Amino acid sequence: MFETLALLPPDPVLGVPALFQKDTHPHKVNLSVGAYQDGEGRPYVLEAIKDAEKKLAGEHLLKNYLPIEGDPDYIQLTIELIFASLSKERYFAAQTIGGTSALRLGGDLLVRAAVPLIALSNPSWPNHAPIFKQAGLDAIEYPYYDNHTHGVDFGKLVQAVRALPKGSAILLQACCHNPTGMDLDFSQWKELGEEIKKNGIIPFFDSAYQGFGNGLEEDVKAVRWFAGLGIDMLVASSFSKNMGLYGERAGFLAVLSDKEQVKVASQVKQLIRSNYSNPPIHPARLVATILKDSVLKKEWERELSTMRDRIQCMREALAFGLAAQGAARDFSFLNRQRGVFSYSGLTTQEVQRLIDEWGIYLLQNGRMNVAGLNSRNLDTVIKAIVNVIHAP
Ligand code: LMR
Repeated sequence: MFETLALLPPDPVLGVPALFQKDTHPHKVNLSVGAYQDGEGRPYVLEAIKDAEKKLAGEHLLKNYLPIEGDPDYIQLTIELIFASLSKERYFAAQTIGGTSALRLGGDLLVRAAVPLIALSNPSWPNHAPIFKQAGLDAIEYPYYDNHTHGVDFGKLVQAVRALPKGSAILLQACCHNPTGMDLDFSQWKELGEEIKKNGIIPFFDSAYQGFGNGLEEDVKAVRWFAGLGIDMLVASSFSKNMGLYGERAGFLAVLSDKEQVKVASQVKQLIRSNYSNPPIHPARLVATILKDSVLKKEWERELSTMRDRIQCMREALAFGLAAQGAARDFSFLNRQRGVFSYSGLTTQEVQRLIDEWGIYLLQNGRMNVAGLNSRNLDTVIKAIVNVIHAP
């Protein structure tokens, strides 16, 4: 029955750990999926989460269905975390299954609103284009990263926004751009916001790393600025990284519109109902328990800044180590990147050699999960990179 189906390649991100598992290299290092690991290279469950779990376990809570749009406390608290405050008349929001389903729901809504296309940064998270194409949008690219300067080409980005047809959508990453780690500065965000407003484009923010860049408030400055422009916009967000809730799938979608909230709500709810009916209760309770308890919230914020500082330390040690070991390329640009990723500039061939000869797994595009580095594997990674770029 299925003989006509094409065989598809493994996922460029989530397909890598399976290859890593099979690798028998004694000093193998997995720097593929953007998940935080502690200084010993172990996956990290936050103490705030463990405490919230203990608290919930004593409460004998029911397992009823949530409303279609999810847990009201979770939704309200997440709105406050992202926007500080937002008038109820301006938005409809839903708890979603990770940030991915928020993006997909937003894409489905845009299709129903007859939005023809969404522009994605070049490069972008490898799953962005498939999500929006699957929803039925035309996914095109706008210039973002300049491989020569290792920075954002803001001039080209603005030109591309001006050239987009009125009524198209643009996907913007709020902070810690995946995969490049290079974000706009605030004055560029403001300029971009004005252009987007003037040209009648719908911004769709993907905010997957709030707190991993410069801080919980700083990392959503752009989102808040855009919300203040009074234009229709969408925001997808997730607690996968900042609360380490990867497999719990705690996501969020907010759709801002001054006039059409009632219609938007009816459409998003119907999209959810006909897909997964309603979201899971446990991740919502975990997040809400932390966000509404001042002690747990403080504990979470402390752990988040520890994670952020450790990543930054590893990034600096990597750039420093590559220079100290006489790498034939200047890697100082790594220090300008933020978040869990480093866009190393290594070619596909160099990445393949790191995998084949050293058992060091990056994404094919050269993206490296810096949060997977630690004092035990750093020297091996530096030695391997120096080796593959010196001896072609
Ligand atoms: C990543 O980019 O590594 C993460 O966002 C995990 C994923 O789902 O791809």
